[in-house]
Amino acid sequence: MRLILLAAPGAGKGTQAEMLSEHYGIPSISTGAILRKNISEGTELGKIAAEYINDGKLIPDDLMIKVMDERFKQDDCKNGFILDGFPRTIAQAEALSASDIVIDKVLSLEVDDETIVERLGGRLECKSCGATYHTEHRTPKIEGKCDKCGGELGVRSDDKPETVRERLKTYHAQTEPLIEYYREKGLLCVAKGRSEIADTSKAVLEALEA
Ligand code: AP5
Repeated sequence: MRLILLAAPGAGKGTQAEMLSEHYGIPSISTGAILRKNISEGTELGKIAAEYINDGKLIPDDLMIKVMDERFKQDDCKNGFILDGFPRTIAQAEALSASDIVIDKVLSLEVDDETIVERLGGRLECKSCGATYHTEHRTPKIEGKCDKCGGELGVRSDDKPETVRERLKTYHAQTEPLIEYYREKGLLCVAKGRSEIADTSKAVLEALEA
């Protein structure tokens, strides 16, 4: 299965990608996680990415396409993958379509902007492994510590309210048009996000397996 997850920032792509990765036994590839790793390691890519991410803007297409071309060559992509955060523009989708990668399905996860602002206001992320929690909807077993690796939990720098508003604007202008793009290609299925993670996972699997 080669699957694209399409949704607004904070809609729950990462949370559902984790569930789907276990369900289908294929890796989930988060472009945001790749970029944040580069930022924390201080690479050239990281230095460029930080400027865009902190402003709620997208990394330039040519750069992102190059990063993903390299990622797709890795061995773990052989039996399929879940794309969490790529493509995010028509140019990125066209580059993917021009490659020899065949996408099986595109899942659009629908969540309204108001819910997203509330969710991102409560998100916590592990500074070591990137696992995601929420102050109300997904609390860690020990406060401030990651259940998976024991790492310290913190707030993502781009989850500040003003950056979240900018990310939503960027999503509506540049990424939302991909919904029609993939509908026209006959690849789109749609799931409505629910207020509980488990209910959303059920809706996602039903949409994919319908
Ligand atoms: P990225 O890391 O991909 O961020 P994003 O798309 O903004 O998405 P998020 O990771 O913020 O949210 P999510 O949808 O994964 O939600 P989550 O599961 O965490 O990208 C960051 C930046 O990198 C971009 O802004 C851009 O600058 C750059 N970038 C990345 N890809 C790029 C590309 N292709 N081209 C150019 N630039 C690129 O859930 C959110 C919270 O809600 C969590 O706390 C979670 O526990 C909770 N939650 C989830 N589901 C539910 C539910 N159903 N009910 C209640 N709570 C829930």
